[in-house]
Amino acid sequence: MVMNIMNQGKPSLDPHPLSEYVAWAGARNREPILNVLKEKLPKEPGVILEIASGSGMHINYFAPHFKHLFFQPSDYDTEVFDNIKNILGKLGNDNVYDPLSIDLTQPKTWLNLDKKNGYSAIFCINIFHVAPIDIIDGMMECAAELLNENGFLFIYGPFKVDGTFNSASNEQFNETLNSTGVPEWGLKDIADLKKVAEYYDLKLQEKIDMPSNNFSLIFARK
Ligand SMILES: C[S@@+](CC[C@H](N)C(=O)[O-])C[C@H]1O[C@@H](n2cnc3c(N)ncnc32)[C@H](O)[C@@H]1O
Repeated sequence: MVMNIMNQGKPSLDPHPLSEYVAWAGARNREPILNVLKEKLPKEPGVILEIASGSGMHINYFAPHFKHLFFQPSDYDTEVFDNIKNILGKLGNDNVYDPLSIDLTQPKTWLNLDKKNGYSAIFCINIFHVAPIDIIDGMMECAAELLNENGFLFIYGPFKVDGTFNSASNEQFNETLNSTGVPEWGLKDIADLKKVAEYYDLKLQEKIDMPSNNFSLIFARK
């Protein structure tokens, strides 16, 4: 299935979490992201939260590689929950919980959660370029609230760096996003993420170059 998607041409831009485009992007990026997570996720037991799980393809792909950890999917769009649960059931992942409703624009959706011991890590893949800039604030506040003391936030996607594009292809991608007429769409700047993170006492610890001019960003408490 994955090979079929990868062998087809690039589908046209469609950020719907169950679209062919998002499946195509996920098939390309999940292995490189898994390799980073293998290095970074804790070796001791804990719970990992995903924000904006979409179809659930990433969390269900990662979970079997970390049998000592539990994985908590989430999204603001509850219509994707059946899809997440279907993949979970098909793969028989016994360390993936049922999804939670978390909306990065609605603080009550994470403030109301039972914090227990906090999450060891939170990850969020490919949302910032197809979302309003306000979600940067939501993402950082949510991470500051829910991460345990040594926890970290992992963000993956295409970003600008201090006002500039890191490649011609990302500049072109940004133009495509702008041409849709959706005002909130477009590459966000790592400088803005850093600024908001600082406000919540989080610091950019690592910026890792990923294939196809994407970045993995790791934020943690100072
Ligand atoms: C492009 S899809 C990416 C999905 C998945 N992370 C992936 O890489 O396949 C963007 C996702 O962000 C979710 N999303 C958009 N706005 C959100 C918000 N305010 N809070 C939480 N999730 C949001 C959408 O429902 C969708 O699942």
